[in-house]
Amino acid sequence: MAETFRIGLLGHGTVGSAFEALLAERADAFVPITGLRPEITGVLTRSRGDFEEVLANADLVVELIGGIEPARDYVLRAMKAGKHVVSANKQLLSQHGEELWACAREHGVQLRFEGAVAGVVPVIRVLQESLAATRVERIHGIVNGTTNYILTEMAARGLSYEEALQQAQELGYAEADPTDDVTGRDAAAKMAILARLAFSTPVHLDQVVYEGIEHLTADDMEYAKELGLGLKLIGTAERVDGGISVRVHPAFLYAAHPLASVHGPFNAVTVESDAITEVTLSGPGAGGPQTATAVLGDVISAMIPPACTPETTETLPVVADVKSAFYLAMEVDDEPGVLAQVAEVLGMQGASIKSVVQKGLGRQARLVMVLHPLLESRFYAAVQLISQMAFVRSTPRAIRVIDEEFS
Ligand SMILES: NC(=O)c1ccc[n+]([C@@H]2O[C@H](COP(=O)([O-])OP(=O)(O)OC[C@H]3O[C@@H](n4cnc5c(N)ncnc54)[C@H](OP(=O)(O)O)[C@@H]3O)[C@@H](O)[C@H]2O)c1
Repeated sequence: MAETFRIGLLGHGTVGSAFEALLAERADAFVPITGLRPEITGVLTRSRGDFEEVLANADLVVELIGGIEPARDYVLRAMKAGKHVVSANKQLLSQHGEELWACAREHGVQLRFEGAVAGVVPVIRVLQESLAATRVERIHGIVNGTTNYILTEMAARGLSYEEALQQAQELGYAEADPTDDVTGRDAAAKMAILARLAFSTPVHLDQVVYEGIEHLTADDMEYAKELGLGLKLIGTAERVDGGISVRVHPAFLYAAHPLASVHGPFNAVTVESDAITEVTLSGPGAGGPQTATAVLGDVISAMIPPACTPETTETLPVVADVKSAFYLAMEVDDEPGVLAQVAEVLGMQGASIKSVVQKGLGRQARLVMVLHPLLESRFYAAVQLISQMAFVRSTPRAIRVIDEEFS
């Protein structure tokens, strides 16, 4: 009989119960690899179990409670007691990561968190291990399945944002309170974690600028199609001017971008560097059984040393003003010279037009254009001026465009 590797399970909800079921099914398969048989020896929920008892009977603690407290307290106490910890808690890691990693290093234990970002897509391990030798320049990610599902349905079936959200809730892809997902906050937490690992510099959720998808319309999708663009909620972490920029916002992508073909509740992450060009990983981004697979993978990794705790090796500034390409749409009076005047104001701020579509709407016209990259501050200065011009009949709508293509 193989010796038991004891797991204390904190939280027994969607992921916790899926983890227990998966472990029951797979435990024997790990005996030949690790020489040990993983087994749950204690469970803590709001109504069941005692933390000290669970801890005393565990070699490793799996935290699947979520949120900050008491998860933070339990994770710290477990590590101080010399236990490895596996967690899928992106909020905790994106806000208290430095404290937790420092504690893991001090006590010589592992803190693993593959399930916290992009569900079963193994991006944490790839950044920490497979791509450890490369200097990452940029990461783009579709790291929230709920919003990707909503945007996919809006584009494919012409649904409004509200209709697509309701459908996502009926199918279980969105929670009853979808705020964290649709405002971009959930994706921002995940991008903070990815940026921290990619650039070895502290990144807190509060430093991530994020914008959600609530203001997007079926019209945006329609016009974008004519320009050959698809719309996604994109997380970006990149090196800029000796610092880094980490942000989440809706962005248009050209069809040749690897993330353009990621549809429905799937997640994907693109890692770019000079040496490797780009590597894209994709797969299911959430769900109990899927996330449980990532969590159990972490448990098995922790059973086989060596430990891998990310060190901070740099302190890079977070850059606020970065260059972006933009989609710009507005309703204008349908009269001669309008496009030339808009182009002139854009030109004064250094913006040049890449493509343009003009559609007649009776006595008005809709002007939709894509601009080459420019500093966001200069773009918004131009938009401010344009919005005050006499022939402009609607508030100009601006959405970023990711214009990289890989071949
Ligand atoms: N669901 C997903 O698809 C998914 C995907 C990726 C990552 N995650 C992450 O995985 C973690 C767990 O998510 P989940 O969806 O499984 O959550 P969940 O279904 O809400 O389950 C949470 C569990 O934690 C327990 N709990 C809550 N507060 C507690 C407290 N104060 N003390 C002890 N136990 C407490 C709950 O106890 P009761 O049973 O008594 O209520 C429940 O068993 C979160 O960090 C989440 O962000 C989830």
